[in-house]
Amino acid sequence: MDWALVILAFFQSAAAPQGPEQPIAYSHKSHLSMGLQCKNCHENKDPGEAMGIPVTAKCMACHQSVKKDSPQITKLAEFHASNRPVPWQRVYQLPGFVFFSHKTHLQIGAECKTCHGEVAQRDRLFKEVGIAMGDCMECHRKNKASNDCMYCHEQRQ
Ligand code: HEC
Ligand code: HEC
Ligand code: HEC
Ligand code: HEC
Ligand code: HEC
Repeated sequence: MDWALVILAFFQSAAAPQGPEQPIAYSHKSHLSMGLQCKNCHENKDPGEAMGIPVTAKCMACHQSVKKDSPQITKLAEFHASNRPVPWQRVYQLPGFVFFSHKTHLQIGAECKTCHGEVAQRDRLFKEVGIAMGDCMECHRKNKASNDCMYCHEQRQ
C-alpha cells in the first residue's frame, strides 16, 4: 500500500468541508443564482427567533412542472403528496438551553453571511462559521453587548 497516497487522501478529505448529507440534493447555489432571495424561503416570523425551513409546498410551486421527472424531484413530490416534511439534517443548531433570536441580530445590522458564510455559493451547506459560546462572546465583546451568563442562558418564556 502506498502510505503517501493514503495520507494525502486523508488530508484532502479533511480540507474539503462536508456538511451533513441531505435527503434531497437541494442546492442553494443553483436556486439563488436564479434570483431567489433568502426571504422567499426563510421568513423571520413573529416572535422572530427562527428563520424556519420552507415547507414542500414552496418547492412544489415550481417543481409541479420544473424537472418533475428527475429522481430528486420525484422524491420531493412524494414527501409533498404524503404530507410529510422533508427530514432535512440541521447544519446550525443550538442546544435548547441557549437563547438566540434572529430578529435581534438582524436589527443590529448583522447579515446572514456574518453567521452562515457564503450560502449562495454552496451546493451543500456545512457549518462554515462557528456558533459556539466563544464565537458569540467574541462578537458581543466587540459590540459592547453583555456577556453575562444569564444574558444567553436565562430561562425565558
Ligand atoms: C448573529 C448570527 C446569525 C445571523 C446574523 C443569522 N443567523 Fe441564522 N442561525 C444562527 C444560529 C445561532 C442558528 C441556530 C439557532 C437555534 O438552533 O436556535 C441559526 C439558524 C438558522 C436556520 C435554521 C432554522 C432556524 O430557524 O433555526 C436558518 C434557515 C437560518 N439560520 C437562516 C438565516 C438567514 C436567512 C439569515 C439572514 C436573513 C440568518 N440566518 C442570519 C445565527 C445567525
Ligand atoms: C422559483 C422556482 C423554484 C423553486 C421555488 C424551487 N426550485 Fe428547485 N429548481 C428550480 C429550477 C428551475 C431547477 C433547475 C435548475 C437547473 O437545472 O439549473 C431546480 C432544480 C432543483 C433540483 C435539482 C433537480 C435535478 O435533478 O437536477 C432539486 C433537487 C431542487 N430544485 C429542489 C428544490 C427544493 C427542495 C425546493 C424547495 C425548498 C425548490 N427546489 C424550490 C426551480 C425552483
Ligand atoms: C428555494 C428556497 C430557499 C432559498 C431561496 C434559501 N434557502 Fe436556505 N434552506 C432551504 C432549504 C430547503 C434548507 C434545508 C436544506 C439544507 O440545509 O440545504 C435550507 C437551509 C438553510 C440553512 C441551514 C439551516 C440549518 O441549521 O440546518 C441556512 C443557514 C440557510 N438555509 C440560509 C439561507 C440563506 C442565507 C439564503 C439566502 C442567501 C437562503 N438560505 C435561501 C431553502 C432555501
Ligand atoms: C455579529 C455580532 C454578534 C454575534 C455573532 C452574536 N451576537 Fe448576540 N448580540 C449582538 C449584539 C450587538 C446584541 C445587543 C442587541 C441590543 O442590545 O439590542 C446582541 C444581543 C444578544 C442577546 C440579547 C437580545 C435578545 O435577543 O434577547 C442574546 C440572548 C444574544 N445576543 C445571544 C447570542 C448568541 C447565543 C450568539 C451565538 C450563537 C450570538 N448572540 C451571536 C451581537 C452578536
Ligand atoms: C453570548 C452568549 C453566551 C453567553 C454570554 C454565555 N454563554 Fe454559555 N453557551 C452559549 C452557547 C451558544 C453555548 C452552546 C454552544 C457551545 O459552545 O457548544 C453555550 C454553552 C454553555 C455550557 C455548556 C457547555 C458544554 O460544553 O456543553 C455551559 C456550562 C455554559 N455555556 C456556561 C456559561 C457561563 C457560566 C457563562 C457566563 C460566564 C456563559 N455560559 C455565558 C452562549 C453563551
